[in-house]
Amino acid sequence: MSEKIDLKRRRLLQAASAGMALAAAGPAFPIILKRQSFGRPKREATATFFPDVEIELVAAPGKVQILPGPATRVWRYTARVVKGDPDAVIPIPDTYLGPILKFRKGQRVRITLHNRLPAKFITHWHGMHVPFEADGHPSYAIDPEETYVYEFTVENRAGTYWYHPHTNMVTGAQAYSGLAGLILVEDDEENEVPLPRGEYDLPLVLQDRTFDETNQLLYDRRGPIAMLGFLGEKILVNGHPDFTLNVASRSYRFRVLNGSNSRIYKLAWSDGDSITVIGTDGGLLERPVTRPYLMIGPGERYELWRDFSKSKGKEVRLESQEYHGIMPPLYERFRRSGGSMMGMGGMMGGGMGRGGRMGSMGQRGGMGGMMGTQTISGPEGMMGTIGPMMLMARHIPQGSHFTIARFRVTEKPRTLDNQELPAKLRPLPQLSLDDVVNPDKPRPIAIGNHGRQFTLNGQAFSMTGALPIETFPVNTIHLMEIFHEHGGMEMEGEHGGESEHGSRQSMQGMGGGMSMAMMMAMVHPIHLHGHYFQIVRRTPPEAGGMHGSSEGYETVKDGLVDEGYQDTVLAMAGERIQLIKPFDKYKGLFLYHCHNLEHEDGEMMRNFKVV
Ligand code: C2O
Ligand code: CU
Ligand code: CU
Repeated sequence: MSEKIDLKRRRLLQAASAGMALAAAGPAFPIILKRQSFGRPKREATATFFPDVEIELVAAPGKVQILPGPATRVWRYTARVVKGDPDAVIPIPDTYLGPILKFRKGQRVRITLHNRLPAKFITHWHGMHVPFEADGHPSYAIDPEETYVYEFTVENRAGTYWYHPHTNMVTGAQAYSGLAGLILVEDDEENEVPLPRGEYDLPLVLQDRTFDETNQLLYDRRGPIAMLGFLGEKILVNGHPDFTLNVASRSYRFRVLNGSNSRIYKLAWSDGDSITVIGTDGGLLERPVTRPYLMIGPGERYELWRDFSKSKGKEVRLESQEYHGIMPPLYERFRRSGGSMMGMGGMMGGGMGRGGRMGSMGQRGGMGGMMGTQTISGPEGMMGTIGPMMLMARHIPQGSHFTIARFRVTEKPRTLDNQELPAKLRPLPQLSLDDVVNPDKPRPIAIGNHGRQFTLNGQAFSMTGALPIETFPVNTIHLMEIFHEHGGMEMEGEHGGESEHGSRQSMQGMGGGMSMAMMMAMVHPIHLHGHYFQIVRRTPPEAGGMHGSSEGYETVKDGLVDEGYQDTVLAMAGERIQLIKPFDKYKGLFLYHCHNLEHEDGEMMRNFKVV
């Protein structure tokens, strides 16, 4: 019952705040935030907190040369060190990406975020284990010209983390507009590991974007995009299309971040070399693992080691290889049909607009509205849209084969130290079932859907809400299980009505008797805030089961790396994943959500309440 009211209220809010409603202009926005504000946002520095490093981080509109021709309007981070190690901020030239923030384990950090955007805004340190008030919860979003003070001690192991917006319902649009940056944590133990350093230790941030004729960003999250996630037509690495790098004939360490809104890459080397993984979300593995290819979902980081010494004079490409079966059946059908959008529109048109904020232009989705030519402004009119159907028609299909980056092995190595791949990297304390308080009763993370809205544990997002199954006593370790809920039909009955009726019929017509849950079965990159977790078990989809296709699964399964510490895991359609997660040290609300940012903004997000 309350769910019903919730959905109704949400629809009203969406209708009231036209377009992106990024600025405080949307009348409903401030009201809902006030009503739901919670805890104590930090607007001032704490007198008793003595930072080792203090950083001023600014989010503001800017312009960057991305493509030949006109510069692209972006929103971006800039930063400077106010106190402490000047190397804590490493700007990257010629990109919209924010500077690299470099921390040491144990450091006390204060970051003052200045919001110079014409929009509500908040920033999250993805993967960092920090107090609730420093985690960038959307309830702490600040208004234009306001500041937010983050204070925390770096507790993470050395590794690759990142920062990005976490503003309610517009995380996808804001991150896409350019707001993202890397965080590198180092510690003494890692410094001992003989890995490539300096210029031979390189970040690779993977993103996809679509531009209009004047090189401006296009974005939309209505219609099929609300369901599938935004997919662009150009692959960018570190903010550059057609990324090409001259490299030396020696070994390299690559820190790969998938900073895309929803694209999943199947990484492989063009010369057939296997992928050597040395690190995951939570830093170095105990020992390297090799795979023929590597699946990397949005939000995930993997560290790769690659030896170019035998590729002298050659060009080696990092590619994304073809895969299947992890997108909804109707998307697969769209791909097989050579990209007929008409079929997809028929299946996903009606009602889908509800999931997207941009859908609130007085039309309720449907082909007519979506094919329409109205212009809807993105962050402060900065990004355009050509409508979701036209945007979809231009994207590189999820799961197709393409080149990500080219490495030309033309340089002489300046140093040859740390050339060999170490057999052992660093110890990785393992969590086991003996550590958990609930070995026989895993806490659920159920992926489901209410109509066309994806849900977690049967719910949409509520700013401060957490169910009993989402509440954890502080300093406990729990077994958790991610799985795909069956039975979409009963749920659908709950609030099906008005405009949804017609489109449900058409979906069934096209799907040949498939249930809604089957039609919507797809991959979800599930991310848990707070401390990292360890995966203990992955159960593949049942052959011929109701979710996913096992033939498709064959094309991705050898690229899953479950070793090491993770904060984001790709849950393939129909899979079950058991993981062990500590809820230590900090009380408060810690989000868990799908890191497909259009799903997240479509409220596939919930709170863990640590008490
Ligand atoms: Cu990378 Cu809650 O986000
Ligand atoms: Cu996070
Ligand atoms: Cu998802």
